Amino acid sequence: IRVLFVTSEVYPVIKTGGLADVSASLPEALHQQDQDVHILLPGYPAAMAAARKNGSLRKAQLRIGVYPVTLWQTQLPGSSVTLWLVDCPPLFDRPGNPYQNEEGSDWWDNAHRYHLFARVATMMALGQADLNWIPDVVHCNDWQTGLVPVLMNSSYKRPATVFTIHNLAYQGLFSHETFRSLGLPDSLWRFDQLEFHGQLSFIKGGLVFSDHLTTVSPGYAKEICNPQLGYGLDGLLRHREHALTGILNGIDTRQWDPESDPYLDHHYDVDHLLDKQQCRKDLQQQVELEANTEAPLLGFVGRFVEQKGIDLLLDVLPALLDKGCQCVILGSGLREYEQAAVQLAEQYPGRLSVTLGYNEALAHRITAGVDLFVMPSRFEPCGLNQMYSLRYGTLPVVHRVGGLRDTVFEPQHVPFDQANGFTFDSPERPALLAALTRALEGFNRPNTRQRLQRNGMAGDYSWQPRAREYIDIYRQILAARQSIID
Ligand code: ADP
Ligand code: GLC
Repeated sequence: IRVLFVTSEVYPVIKTGGLADVSASLPEALHQQDQDVHILLPGYPAAMAAARKNGSLRKAQLRIGVYPVTLWQTQLPGSSVTLWLVDCPPLFDRPGNPYQNEEGSDWWDNAHRYHLFARVATMMALGQADLNWIPDVVHCNDWQTGLVPVLMNSSYKRPATVFTIHNLAYQGLFSHETFRSLGLPDSLWRFDQLEFHGQLSFIKGGLVFSDHLTTVSPGYAKEICNPQLGYGLDGLLRHREHALTGILNGIDTRQWDPESDPYLDHHYDVDHLLDKQQCRKDLQQQVELEANTEAPLLGFVGRFVEQKGIDLLLDVLPALLDKGCQCVILGSGLREYEQAAVQLAEQYPGRLSVTLGYNEALAHRITAGVDLFVMPSRFEPCGLNQMYSLRYGTLPVVHRVGGLRDTVFEPQHVPFDQANGFTFDSPERPALLAALTRALEGFNRPNTRQRLQRNGMAGDYSWQPRAREYIDIYRQILAARQSIID
């Protein structure tokens, strides 16, 4: 099957979150299962630089409205998957984050940027870009690609379309004026198409017009069909429930492997868990925590936004640090959370370490070095860090929601041979504190600890079985499309 995988970020070229990880490792897994997958990405500076380094071919010169666009063909670094770049300097040659300027506000013309990106994807999909390669399936991801199925829809002989929801909280909402300035047909301005409470909703384009919808865990697939996590789109999602599948994300098991992780100075596996202690020592030293072998060590890595519940963690930490725990935090995001974290660290030198910013190496070293990895997310479509932790013999303590519910199991809820961590049911201080207290008790009982670690490390978090689920969906929708065309 020829698949065009349309995404706004892909690791290691450009990453703001898990979407980038998935956009690299799912196509790679599909490729390993003999599917002909090509990734399409905007030509951000980092992407163009990677293409220059890897070698690239200029494949097409297009004109989209007033913009000249060059399509470059290269390869995803470290992989043999084809990567196409939409090179349009006025829209994509900008410093920093794909979506925001250096002050942290959204680029003023995001609607135009991702509309142009969708137009290029559509031209490729419909064979109008003169590339000698036309996909059978176009696989879109999150709001940035929401207009692709819309623009393709009117073509009778179009590829089948899949839209994956990585996070329904980000919807790509713009004014009616912006809608008009994009030149989209007025007929799309309807509540059952692109209009959402008086605004243009990019994500609705994907949800309404794609042949099939997926999201990144079975748990989240159910949750978004309910008002609490449906963000006003639950009615539409319930209407499309027959075409919505939750497929749990996998992880890149080569990048995330405690036996060979290049970011670690010491390695270990399930039979040599004592060597994990060495990673703990290395971490304590690196982030300037007291060299204490007894103090339980907690960790957090993630975006500092409401979703991730970093505020809940900061709230319960003093009680735990006062009892002799240590904690290491890595992340960045909202200024108020950053400041609160740094202030707390100043009150607990040697016991709480906070590193602001993005740091791939430290993320790996935390995953390996801590005893308990805390994820108090208020919602979590899938979450990757809990799976990294499980694979590294680090016990996750998570809010039982979305993909966290599907991957982390506490002894009191499942037979002991399936338990691998600790969970709590409401994203509130008492429940988090109670779960952490249970986790600390469990952790201090060597038998329980080892059993949970072993169960976690034995899990299969690889992409292979999950890629097969995507292939099944591609096949189904291709057959359905074919029957329409015939
Ligand atoms: P989300 O996409 O909602 O941010 P995920 O758990 O799916 O959450 O993915 C987040 C990814 O980003 C993980 O690979 C995580 O390790 C990584 N990450 C998040 N913040 C940082 C950071 N400050 N430094 C390094 N890696 C980070
Ligand atoms: C989103 C979600 C996260 C998920 C990731 C990759 O960013 O917040 O839970 O793991 O996408 O699908």
